[in-house]
Amino acid sequence: MSDNHQPIGVFDSGVGGLTVVKELRRLLPQEKIVYFGDTARVPYGTKSRETIIKFSLENILFLLRQEAKIIVIACNTSSSLALPAIKQHFRIPIIGVISPGAKESVYATKNKRVGVIGTRATVSSRAYEEEIHKLDRTIKVIGQSCPLFVPLVEEGWLKGEIVLGIVGNYLKPLKDAGIDTLILGCTHYPLLREAITRAMGKKVILIDSAKQLAMEVKGILEQDGLLNKNRQRQISNLVCYVTDKSGPFKQLGERFLGERLDHIYEVQNV
Ligand code: DGL
Repeated sequence: MSDNHQPIGVFDSGVGGLTVVKELRRLLPQEKIVYFGDTARVPYGTKSRETIIKFSLENILFLLRQEAKIIVIACNTSSSLALPAIKQHFRIPIIGVISPGAKESVYATKNKRVGVIGTRATVSSRAYEEEIHKLDRTIKVIGQSCPLFVPLVEEGWLKGEIVLGIVGNYLKPLKDAGIDTLILGCTHYPLLREAITRAMGKKVILIDSAKQLAMEVKGILEQDGLLNKNRQRQISNLVCYVTDKSGPFKQLGERFLGERLDHIYEVQNV
C-alpha cells in the first residue's frame, strides 16, 4: 500500500522531462518528486520499440525502489512506445504524456486538423493519433518528426535566423495542411514555443501536455487518497538521479525547470 508521504516518480530519457516537473511543482508544490534522467542512454527518440520498452521498464523499477506512489512518464517517446505495453504489469498508477495532450487537442481544434511534432519514434508510433481517434474519429492528424529540435534546445539555440529557418522548414507541411492546433509532442519543444509560433502564426493553438498531465496526476492522487497535504514546498522536495553526470544536466535542467537544482546524484546500475 502506498501512503501520501511517498514521492511522485518521474522519468525521462534525459533532462527534458524537467519541463513536466515544472508543471507538477506548480500545481502540487507540497509533493516530493524523485526525477530519473537516463542521461547515459539518451536519446530514446532514435531507438527501437524493444529498446525503449526495456529502458522504460528499468527506469520504472528504479523509481519503485525509491518508493514512488505514482509514476509519471515525462518522455513522449517512452509514453508512445512503452506505456501501452507495460502499464498493466504494475499495481501503482503509471501515467504518460500522450493521453493528456491528445485530450487537450481534441478540445482545442475547431477545424479538426491537428498537427503532432515529436521525435521520429513518437511520430511513427502514431500514438497521439490513436488517442485522438478514441475521442473523435473525424479529426485529421498530421505528424511531423523534427529531429533537430532536441539538439537545438540543448545547445540553447532558441531564437535567431538559423533557428527560425530550421523550425520553419520542418513545420511547412503542417502549415500547408491548414492545422489549427499543434501538439508539442516532445519534452524539449515548449522551449521553442516562440519560434514555433512565428512559423505557424499566432492563430495556431500550441498544446503542451505537461499542464494537463499535472492536473490528471492531481486527480489520481486525490482519488486514491495519496495527496500530500502537510509538506511545504522546498528545494529539497526534488531529488534528481541521472545515469551519467558528465553532461550539463544541472545547467540545462535549471533552464528547463526554472529553479535551482541542488540534489543531483549519479546512479550506475538501474
Ligand atoms: N525526451 C524525449 C521525448 O520527449 C526527447 C529526447 C529523446 O529523444 O530521448 O520524446
